[in-house]
Amino acid sequence: MKIFVAGGTGAIGRPLIAELLAKGHALIALTRSPEKARALAAQGVEPVIADVFDAEAVNAVVGRARPEVVIKQLTALPRHYTRESMSAAAFNARLRLEGGANVLAAAQAAGVWRYLRQSIALVSRSFWANWFFRRLPSIKSRSSQTRSTAA
Ligand SMILES: NC(=O)c1ccc[n+]([C@@H]2O[C@H](COP(=O)([O-])OP(=O)(O)OC[C@H]3O[C@@H](n4cnc5c(N)ncnc54)[C@H](OP(=O)(O)O)[C@@H]3O)[C@@H](O)[C@H]2O)c1
Repeated sequence: MKIFVAGGTGAIGRPLIAELLAKGHALIALTRSPEKARALAAQGVEPVIADVFDAEAVNAVVGRARPEVVIKQLTALPRHYTRESMSAAAFNARLRLEGGANVLAAAQAAGVWRYLRQSIALVSRSFWANWFFRRLPSIKSRSSQTRSTAA
């Protein structure tokens, strides 16, 4: 299958790409960095360079790639979680909402079969954690019925 990964150079994206390659998929990965693009090419992945805030560029690279599946693994979370670094989390929300919307729009325009997006939920062993995990099976079954699926 031909798969386009946005965020394929990240902590989750790198092992994801290795696994998809091992399964024989053809991969295209988006990065902003020429250096990371070279590393992707050495791995057997077709690199494309664009910033997800540039909707036109994202639309062009996804359109040219003609993938069957688009996977979004973008994030801009800080390396260490401190009060100061977490104030940058607002930018992360913008990356997910604006950047993610550009990737989704490009995927829809390219007529992809499936769009998968990664998210995160931070929970502690508390009332809300118990609430969440008790409802997980029904949340999973509902999300699997949708075309755009949060993993
Ligand atoms: N890491 C974890 O333990 C963990 C756990 C649970 C969930 N998650 C979720 O998994 C997803 C991926 O997280 P991660 O930890 O793998 O992130 P990461 O290591 O910080 O990687 C971020 C990725 O996003 C790309 N990116 C950031 N800004 C971009 C922009 N403006 N344009 C294009 N690409 C951009 C980076 O590409 P370049 O730098 O190559 O341009 C990189 O590939 C997120 O949704 C995160 O919340 C992560």
